[in-house]
Amino acid sequence: MLDILPLVAFIGLIFVVAYSQARPSVYTALPNSPTTVPYLFPWIGSFFSFNRDPLRFFQECHQRYGHVYKVFLAGRIIVVITHPNGITSITRDTTRNLTNKDIFIHMLQGITGFSANLDSIHELLDHKIFPITKMTLSPSSMLDITEGLDKSLRRELRGLDQNKGLPRVIQLSDLIGRPLYTAGCYALFGSTFPFDTFSDFQALDSNLPQLLTQLPFIGYRGAHARDRLLSKIADYIEGWWESDGVEEIPEASTTVMQSLTELKASQVSKREAAGALLLLLWGFHSNTWYMLFWLVTHLVVDDKAMAQLTQDLEAARNHQSLPNNESNSPPLLESAILETLRWATTSTTVRFAEDDTEIAVNGLRVPINKGEYVMGDVRAVHHDLSTFEDPDQFRIGRYMTKEDRSAPLPKPMAWGGGKHMCVGRHVAVHVMRLFMLECLRLYEIKAVASGFETRRLPRISSRHFIGSLKTNEEVHVVISPRH
Ligand code: HEM
Repeated sequence: MLDILPLVAFIGLIFVVAYSQARPSVYTALPNSPTTVPYLFPWIGSFFSFNRDPLRFFQECHQRYGHVYKVFLAGRIIVVITHPNGITSITRDTTRNLTNKDIFIHMLQGITGFSANLDSIHELLDHKIFPITKMTLSPSSMLDITEGLDKSLRRELRGLDQNKGLPRVIQLSDLIGRPLYTAGCYALFGSTFPFDTFSDFQALDSNLPQLLTQLPFIGYRGAHARDRLLSKIADYIEGWWESDGVEEIPEASTTVMQSLTELKASQVSKREAAGALLLLLWGFHSNTWYMLFWLVTHLVVDDKAMAQLTQDLEAARNHQSLPNNESNSPPLLESAILETLRWATTSTTVRFAEDDTEIAVNGLRVPINKGEYVMGDVRAVHHDLSTFEDPDQFRIGRYMTKEDRSAPLPKPMAWGGGKHMCVGRHVAVHVMRLFMLECLRLYEIKAVASGFETRRLPRISSRHFIGSLKTNEEVHVVISPRH
């Protein structure tokens, strides 16, 4: 009995310390300080509740604590903002005290597995490579990518008709993911890219939350896939790299060639250059493929919405050769794209406070302490009952202009904002538009059977709480070529 006394005393001490730490009063000293989500153990904070189901955790905190709250997660302090103008205040931060460097390097480590030279690779991407992509993927220059992409995506989609014109069952990763991957890689990297890397890309992307924990043996399937991807991309650039640009990379885009030229001039290693290209490839595909995945899935479970969209696209095709931008695209398709971005976006913006600072949230100056993270919970904004009717429902026509509505609905905040706003947003919307137009022109897409089980959305994977909603389930559909 005496042996366990020190243990009991120790546990008691932890509770006393924990209780004193958990009292919000410690953190509400400054005016407008965020409410702290109560927790029991110092350092660990709310980690276990968060880790059980991150998406639900943020949803419940939003309901309980409102537009600003502070959460302690295993040594990290995160101020979560769920108000649209508070999120804009983060992305447009003029104090320069909020930086994405810390979180970016974390992502860089997860995606490439690199552990050295991270500061300089980040610097290079932030100052040289992203400004290149910002220019080449702008509406006036993106033809450099979209021309090859359109050609390749059409070819890939036509190639899915492999059953002599008869219906066939196909999984969505083969209907959307693989064709998109091939087309995107062809458009960016040209004809010599190792296109057989799709399943490795999938394994890396789906294991990313585990890889980001940086714990040994966690997400090892993703780690192996990542190594193979890096080696194949390094082989793909080898001729050009070793010959100092004398040997060409056939049909590679300006985006990739200018980026490679910068990388070579900066004297990074060939593998580091491959890592930078892998990051670009991931940025291109990861969110785009999942947005299309959810759009198609919603249509497959809702016959009426599918029929309506198919009809509108058909009518638009009869009026013009091919709608290809917002102004000549059928309004229902544009609404479906916006509704998908609204429904499926999670948290998009995380920054680190390098110094004490403030952000403006709904007219209040909220203090952020040096060393804290700030996260914009865009999902909370997009699913806010006071702005959107039935916010959890996917309504294909939600963004159609209606005469009876006084103010139009706010556009989704899917692209972030300010200095780090998504440079690929115009290409992403172009891809979503083109995919739907071409796919529904070529095929009728239906659920595999009419039972309830096949008419439900796949289960959302709660681990993916940054970027877009994801799932670990495969969805099968029947595609029937239209004659
Ligand atoms: C539907 C698809 C997409 C979504 C939802 C999306 C979303 C985002 C968001 C929210 C950010 C800002 C992150 C932050 O503020 O920290 C971002 C940044 C970025 N995106 Fe996208 N993106 C998509 C497609 C693309 C595509 C097709 C590309 C093409 C390469 C791309 C390349 C990038 C790059 C390079 C950045 C970093 C910009 C910077 O830090 O300066 N994205 N994206």
